Amino acid sequence: MNIGIPKEIAPGENRVAMIPANVATLTANGHTVVVESGAGDASGYPDQSYLEAGAQLSSDRDALFANADIVLQVQSFGANRVNSEADLARVRPGQLLMGSMDPLAAPQAAQQVAERGATAVALELVPRISRAQSMDVLSSMATLAGYKAVLTAAMASPRIFPMLMTAAGTLQPARVFVMGAGVAGLQACATAKRLGAVVEAYDVRPAAQEQIISVGAKPIELDLDTGSSEGSGGYAKEQGEEFLARQRELMTAVIAQQDVVITTAAVPGAKSPILVTAEMVKAMKPGSVIVDLAAERGGNCELTEQGKTVVVHGVTIIGPENVPATVEYHASQMYGKNLENLLNLMINDEQQLDLNFADEVIAGTVVAHNGEVVHPHMRKLLGLPELAAEPAATAN
Ligand code: NAI
Repeated sequence: MNIGIPKEIAPGENRVAMIPANVATLTANGHTVVVESGAGDASGYPDQSYLEAGAQLSSDRDALFANADIVLQVQSFGANRVNSEADLARVRPGQLLMGSMDPLAAPQAAQQVAERGATAVALELVPRISRAQSMDVLSSMATLAGYKAVLTAAMASPRIFPMLMTAAGTLQPARVFVMGAGVAGLQACATAKRLGAVVEAYDVRPAAQEQIISVGAKPIELDLDTGSSEGSGGYAKEQGEEFLARQRELMTAVIAQQDVVITTAAVPGAKSPILVTAEMVKAMKPGSVIVDLAAERGGNCELTEQGKTVVVHGVTIIGPENVPATVEYHASQMYGKNLENLLNLMINDEQQLDLNFADEVIAGTVVAHNGEVVHPHMRKLLGLPELAAEPAATAN
C-alpha cells in the first residue's frame, strides 16, 4: 500500500506521526511510504533519516494525499481546528486517515470525512484494555505532559526542589501537590519526587491511592463520598456540583501549604472541573506556582488562561497548550509506535487493509466509514439515528 505522512501544519505542532524506525518496518513489509519533505525537521528526524529508512520524499502535499491509501497524522481533522480545511479538500474516497481527531469535542470532523467517502480512525478512542495499551496515544502523551509540567513548574519557581544541607544553611524541599493522579499525574509525582520534592497527590478514584504510593508520593484523603467516581473504561465520571463544592472547601487548607500545584484532572469530552478556585489561589504563598495541564479544556484552576502565564496574588499560574509537542522528539517516537501498532491491527497477512469490526479496538476507533459516521457514541453526539447494522468487515 501507499502510506503518506504529511508535515503537521497546526501552529506549534512539532511532532511527526511516524519516525524513521516505524517507516523502516512498513517499507520492510513491502509498503511504499511517502513523507512530506521536512515533516520530521521540527522533532529532530531529518529527511535523510527517512530516506535511509526506505521512504520516499515529496514536497507536493496534493500528490501525497492523492496517491496515499493511508494518511498518518498527529493532528488530523477535528484536532487541528486552525488550518485543516485545505486538507479536507485533498481527502479522497476509500482513503484511510489515522490521527488524533478530538472526537468527543469535535464530532463533526468525522462527519466531514464521511462525506468525503474516506475512513477515519480517531486515535483518542483506543479502548483502555490491556491489549491496546501499546496503541494508546492518550497515555503516552499524558506521560510526557506530566513529566514536562514538573520541569515547567521548577523553572518558574523561585525555590529549588530538593532539600540541601549546605554550609550556607539548610534549604527545605519544595512541596509539590498533584491533583488528578491519572497517567499524567502519576508521572508528575514520579518526576517531582526524582527532583527531591516532597510530593502529595489527590484523585477522586479510590484506586488511585495505591498508584500514588507506588510512585513515591503521599495520597491526600478528603472526607468525601467517592464511591461512584469511576465511570466506564477507567475514566473519571463527571461529578455533581455539591461534591465539587465540598471538595473545594477541604482542599483550600491543603493547597495553602504548597509551593507547586500541578493539576491534571480531565473528564473526556467535558469541561474540566474547577479544583483550584480564586479563593484558594489567594490563600497560597507568594512565589507559588500552578501548572494547569487541563488548560485546553477550560482548566482546573479558575484563574488559568489557556496558553498564557499569569501572576495573581503573587502566584504564577501557567496554562500550557499542547505540552507533548514541547518534547517532540520522544513524543514522536511514542506516537509513532502507538500508530504503528494500531495500523498493524488493520493490515492482514497479505499486507492489505482489513478492518475487522468484530475487533473492539477497530470498532472503537473507526469513526467514519463507507460515507457514514459509524461510531455509535459519536452518532449520538451528532444527533444521528443509530445505524441498523455494524459495518461489514471490508478490505476498503
Ligand atoms: P484523565 O486524563 O482522563 O484524568 C486524569 C485524572 O484526573 C484521573 O485519574 C481522574 O480520576 C482525575 N480526576 C477527574 N476529576 C477529578 C476531580 N474532580 N478531582 C480529582 N481528580 C479528578 O485520566 P487518564 O490519565 O487518561 O487515566 C485515567 C484512568 O485510566 C486511570 O485509572 C488509568 O490507570 C486508566 N488507564 C488504563 C489504561 C489501560 O488499561 N489500557 C491506559 C491508560 C489509563
